[in-house]
Amino acid sequence: MIIREHVSLKDSNTFGIETSARYVAEPASPEDIETTLQNDRLAPLPKLVLGAGSNLLFTQPFEGLVLRPRFRQFTIREEAGERVFLTLGSGLSWHETVRATLDRGLFGLENLALIPGTVGAAPVQNIGAYGVELREVFHSLEAVNLRTGEFRQFDRDACQFGYRSSLFKSQPDTWLILSVTLALSRTFRPRLEYPGLEEELRRAGQAQPTARDVFDAVIRLRRRKLPDPAVLGSAGSFFKNPVLPADRFHILQQKWSDLKGYPTAPGQVKISAAQLIERAGWKGKSVGRAGVYEKHALVLVNLGGATGREIADLSQRIREDVQHKFGILLEPEVRIL
Ligand code: EPU
Repeated sequence: MIIREHVSLKDSNTFGIETSARYVAEPASPEDIETTLQNDRLAPLPKLVLGAGSNLLFTQPFEGLVLRPRFRQFTIREEAGERVFLTLGSGLSWHETVRATLDRGLFGLENLALIPGTVGAAPVQNIGAYGVELREVFHSLEAVNLRTGEFRQFDRDACQFGYRSSLFKSQPDTWLILSVTLALSRTFRPRLEYPGLEEELRRAGQAQPTARDVFDAVIRLRRRKLPDPAVLGSAGSFFKNPVLPADRFHILQQKWSDLKGYPTAPGQVKISAAQLIERAGWKGKSVGRAGVYEKHALVLVNLGGATGREIADLSQRIREDVQHKFGILLEPEVRIL
């Protein structure tokens, strides 16, 4: 395994921030990781596991070892009736994997089309979109502890999945995920409850959609709302949608009568962070080279040559303003380094 030194990370983060890493290694086997962890020079350094860099904001150079997993297996491990257990290397592209599952008649991932990032990052974030979260199709994963060298299998409960969260997100850079096993289905069951998805299909004349129709509709919806990182740097949603106790939501509604909320657990209401940011007047605004995307207020963008600090400063101004106006403290979804 080649270890590179003083490496630019500009093309390795979807914000397109110019920054660098002291060392970068691309392990392609468990042995590569063992070798790295036993290396006297590399072992003591801080480590950062980097997939496609689609949920990260660098505010300074990384003075440690960046590990970019290159595991790429795509293996049907077991078929049990209509259930199919598929083991995927953590270095695979998420979107290309979704496409490949559909090509093989495996269903369950179609609503998660076009999410940037790798398979290994999917459980860290418990990625979710258009009414489906990864945890619903997740079976288990294999990971290695970067502090102790222990290899371990995690089942769904052990991952502690929550809304855009998991054990791996709360203990960053402790575990490097090697592979993820999903439980998919040979039977397609459309999941169309997310607002706008069914309408999008109906408009395309697909009232009885196939999985491919759903996949294509999700791609169209995302392309309409979210910037293409190849054109405009971003990390998708910058903040999480806040979840409030229902009574607090009702008090807010007395002042902002058209504020939308969606019940999640009993007594809990999730509200759209985008609508708070938009109402606070930030949509389409910019400060220097950092901006709020004009088509979606939850997305911060690099308007060209922004530093990570500029984007982090803009996010902080938005948080303070939303807290001042609504009494709600937004929590970043993106990891700020
Ligand atoms: N809205 C506004 N202003 C805007 C955009 C949206 O007021 O500028 C309101 C609208 O009322 C809209 C509602 O917000 O109906 C929800 O918007 P959207 O459907 O775009 O979803 P979101 O809650 O903003 C979440 C995820 C996205 C995911 C979409 C679709 C989070 C933090 N974000 O966004 O995930 O694609 O739902 O399921 O949960 C990501 O995590 O990076 C991401 C893009």
